[in-house]
Amino acid sequence: MYVCLCKAVTDKTIKQKVADGITTMRELRMCTGAGSQCGKCTCQATQIIHNELVRL
Ligand code: FES
Repeated sequence: MYVCLCKAVTDKTIKQKVADGITTMRELRMCTGAGSQCGKCTCQATQIIHNELVRL
């Protein structure tokens, strides 16, 4: 499922990035571009990062 439509970033990609070591929305933005355009995905992406960190 696409989380960030502007940059075509999926939930799967976000989960993989967390597994690779990112811990913040800022880091996700730097490595995928998610949240760097309209910003509408920021809330959901942050939630996914948080859920993954709790799960790991
Ligand atoms: Fe992510 Fe627009 S949907 S920046």
